[in-house]
Amino acid sequence: MKVLHIDSSIQGSASATRELTHEIVARLKTAHPEAQITYRDLAADVLPHFSQAALTRADELEAARNTQVLEEFLDADVLVIGAPLYNFGIPSQLKAWVDRIVIAGRTFRYTERGPEGLAGGKQVILAVPRGGVYETGSLAEFGESYLKFVLGFVGIRDVSFVRAEGLAFSAQHRENALNEARAVIPVPAALAA
Ligand SMILES: Cc1cc2nc3c(=O)[nH]c(=O)nc-3n(C[C@H](O)[C@H](O)[C@H](O)COP(=O)(O)O)c2cc1C
Repeated sequence: MKVLHIDSSIQGSASATRELTHEIVARLKTAHPEAQITYRDLAADVLPHFSQAALTRADELEAARNTQVLEEFLDADVLVIGAPLYNFGIPSQLKAWVDRIVIAGRTFRYTERGPEGLAGGKQVILAVPRGGVYETGSLAEFGESYLKFVLGFVGIRDVSFVRAEGLAFSAQHRENALNEARAVIPVPAALAA
């Protein structure tokens, strides 16, 4: 089983998301010792905004890096993605990654019946902590909802969320919310070998 672990929080060792993604991956590793883990830290190793040069593959180095990002994604059976809510959406570092994996002809295509995802069969666990609290379907929350949509667009339906809310309320609230989130980490044994 190949696992792609992605972090995008800008808060380094103070990051709640990183705590959760590392816990998720540790549990996966315990349940599946044979799992091969690839780690991509989008805050430490920043991908630039997707650009015309990137789109046209005019810059060889950039094109090679983008190919690597896409192949890493295509190769993974399981993705663990840390997606903190920043200004109601995902961190721009993570958006730069999304821009490199939503590729016509590789991860989706348009057909007469509409768009078709080509990257199905993967399992995704998203760690989505946030400072506030959002109702399901809230019109102010474009992080989790966006990722669910875009992953569905490329064919991935098996998406679980590890949520931790109200982290900005108090230190105690943060600790409680993170403990509650740890308790609902999907049982790794249920994941495909
Ligand atoms: C730049 C920035 C923007 C944020 N914007 C929001 C927001 O729009 N809504 C919210 O509920 N929390 C917001 N927060 C709080 C974070 O979602 C919360 O602190 C979360 O734990 C961040 O994850 P991290 O600790 O892994 O970076 C923001 C935090 C930062 C640093």
